[in-house]
Amino acid sequence: MRVTVFGTGYVGLVTGTCLAEVGHQVTCVDIDQAKVDGLNRGVVPIFEPGLEDMVLANHGAGRLAFTTDAAQAIAHGDVLFIAVGTPPDEDGSADLQYVLAVARTIGRHLSRPAIVVNKSTVPVGTADKVRAAIAAELSARGAEIAFEVVSNPEFLKEGAAVNDCMRPDRIVLGSRSAQAVETMKRLYAPFNRNHDRIVVMDERSAELTKYAANAMLATKISFMNEMANIAERVGADIEMVRHGIGSDPRIGYHFIYPGAGYGGSCFPKDVQALGRIARQAGYEAKLLGAVEAVNTAQKDKLFALAERHFAGDLRGRTFAVWGLAFKPNTDDMREASSRRLLELLWNAGATVRAHDPEAMHEATRIFGTRPDLVLCDTPAQALEGADALFVVTEWKAFWSPDFAALKAALKAGVVFDGRNVYDPAQVEAAGLAYYGIGRGRSLQPR
Ligand code: UDX
Repeated sequence: MRVTVFGTGYVGLVTGTCLAEVGHQVTCVDIDQAKVDGLNRGVVPIFEPGLEDMVLANHGAGRLAFTTDAAQAIAHGDVLFIAVGTPPDEDGSADLQYVLAVARTIGRHLSRPAIVVNKSTVPVGTADKVRAAIAAELSARGAEIAFEVVSNPEFLKEGAAVNDCMRPDRIVLGSRSAQAVETMKRLYAPFNRNHDRIVVMDERSAELTKYAANAMLATKISFMNEMANIAERVGADIEMVRHGIGSDPRIGYHFIYPGAGYGGSCFPKDVQALGRIARQAGYEAKLLGAVEAVNTAQKDKLFALAERHFAGDLRGRTFAVWGLAFKPNTDDMREASSRRLLELLWNAGATVRAHDPEAMHEATRIFGTRPDLVLCDTPAQALEGADALFVVTEWKAFWSPDFAALKAALKAGVVFDGRNVYDPAQVEAAGLAYYGIGRGRSLQPR
């Protein structure tokens, strides 16, 4: 089938590439000429495992094209995906300007019947707005062309996006048009083998499904962070508690890892946007507000531990930070807990020596050069001259350090483990002080 994808960000690029991989003819459109030129030369602007090879192979095979020419791209596709960003605006609502701009462009250029698929995470009711925007442009030029709008939210995890797209656990299709649903089923048939993963519903339910999924996952994390905060005050170890509750299949082991707070492009934005959607509908979503508040406080946690350990005396100290990305296997630093930690450390007059396996160029882009930030090529370099170490992202490369070497390198001999990756006893056996999240020891400096 012939497919057009608007937006070559995470969602658009991964979706377009995976659709090409299973044999569809895909054209991806972006307004960013430099990005499109790069993609046409095989330069993939994001780090996503497996993506670059797939882009190169499908581009080389002529199934995947990149262009800034929206008219040509609209002429190409029978199915037109909207996968542009919906960043939060000032009040936390999802900003629909990019989605609606694409809808208007489609309306201006559409010359034959098509299905318009909304993949961006959008407030409930957006399908109606997209439909109205396209219809208005069509009628402005006196064109009568049939089109359908389908809500098809994505559930990709950064770092595992290609796999999530090729092997989805569900494909949500929100549409009242049986014909559009049939076309979408044909499009997704290669991803829907062995058992049926397609869930058909109305558009609004599909739109809310995406928010509900992310809000539920964010709630699990904030719940565990709250338990961790209780655990450390009552002398319990949240890691034991995690094992104790995760074994109940109704709770499950997934997404109950306490830590330095959740980040990324989805959870913070979507929890806020859903709260806003509820408020606009006349309902105050108390739980969502609490999920966000717990997470905001949790991002201050590592700094608070350091402040307590050093009795408020952080000025002139140097801290090693391992991990800048909001989670492993990505270079994405949007809403990353590391950003809050760095900001607090800098405000307190400390210097940061940071290393991340993938996010170094992103850190340079965000922070530029400043005297209180040294970006280091290796984890070991980050330790040089440092008083203490913060582990903020649980990259595998940080899981098994040589604790004796850590002890030798760190002047104050302290490890702040923001993801509970280490065995406290092992760290302490090397003569280091250990602080984790919700592990009792956090409140008891040696
Ligand atoms: C998320 C959803 O998982 C995905 O389905 C949706 O489409 C987009 O949003 P993503 O933002 O890529 O994906 O990351 P995810 O792996 O969900 O992690 C989000 C954040 O939660 C990270 O900062 C991670 O460190 C944190 N997290 C996750 C925890 O703190 N504890 C956990 O138990 C799990």
